[in-house]
Amino acid sequence: MGDIRPQVIPTERLGLVPLRIDHAEEMSSALADPALYDFIGGAPLTPQELRSRYELMLAGSPDPEVSWCNWVIQLRDEPRLVGTVQATITPAYPGPVAEIAWIVGTDWQRRGIAKEAARGLVDWLRRKPVRAVLAHIHPDHRASAAVATATGLEPTGQWHDGELTWRLTLNHDAS
Ligand SMILES: CC(C)(COP(=O)(O)OP(=O)(O)OC[C@H]1O[C@@H](n2cnc3c(N)ncnc32)[C@H](O)[C@@H]1OP(=O)(O)O)[C@@H](O)C(=O)NCCC(=O)NCCS
Repeated sequence: MGDIRPQVIPTERLGLVPLRIDHAEEMSSALADPALYDFIGGAPLTPQELRSRYELMLAGSPDPEVSWCNWVIQLRDEPRLVGTVQATITPAYPGPVAEIAWIVGTDWQRRGIAKEAARGLVDWLRRKPVRAVLAHIHPDHRASAAVATATGLEPTGQWHDGELTWRLTLNHDAS
C-alpha cells in the first residue's frame, strides 16, 4: 500500500515531475511571496531550508502503509518550475484515500495552472488503488475552492483543523 511512487504526469501545458532535491533552489524563488502562505500557514523558505524539507519528504512517511507523493509543476513551453502538487495516500475503509494539495507561484496564478495540475493529478490517482480524493480548504479560500470544484471534488460539511474537507469518490473498486 505504501509503495505508490510519483510518475511524470503530462497535461496539455504542464508536466508534473516527481520532486527532486535539486528542485529546491528554483522552487524557493518560485514560492517566495509571503502571501502564498496566508491560508496554508508557514512562510517562504530559503533554498537550503527547502532542500532539507525536500530531503525529509523524499525519505517518505515513517508509516510504511502511507505513500507521500510530491511533484513540481513544470511549464511545457519554457523550462520553468511554477508550483507543486502533492498526494498523501493512506489506508482507509472501504479503500485508500489520497489527500491532495496544490500551490502555484504568484507570478503564474490565474492562468488555470492549478486547475490543470490538479486534474492531471486526480486522473493519475484514478489509475491507482485509491478509493477517494480529499482536500482540506480554508472556508474563505475562494481560489482553492474553485480548483477543487473544477477537479470534481465537493464540500463534505466535515471540518479538519479549521478547514473544510472536500471529497471525490473514484469510480472503481479499489481496495
Ligand atoms: C490556490 C492556488 C493554487 C490557485 O492557483 P491558480 O493557478 O491561480 O488557479 P487557477 O488559475 O487554476 O484558477 C482556479 C480558480 O481560482 C480562481 N482564482 C485564482 N486566484 C484567485 C484569487 N486570488 N481570488 C479569487 N479567485 C481566484 C480563478 O479565477 C479560477 O476560478 P474559475 O475556475 O471559476 O475560473 C493559488 O492561489 C495558490 O497557490 N495559493 C496559495 C497556496 C494555497 O493556498 N494552496 C491551497 C492548498 S489546499
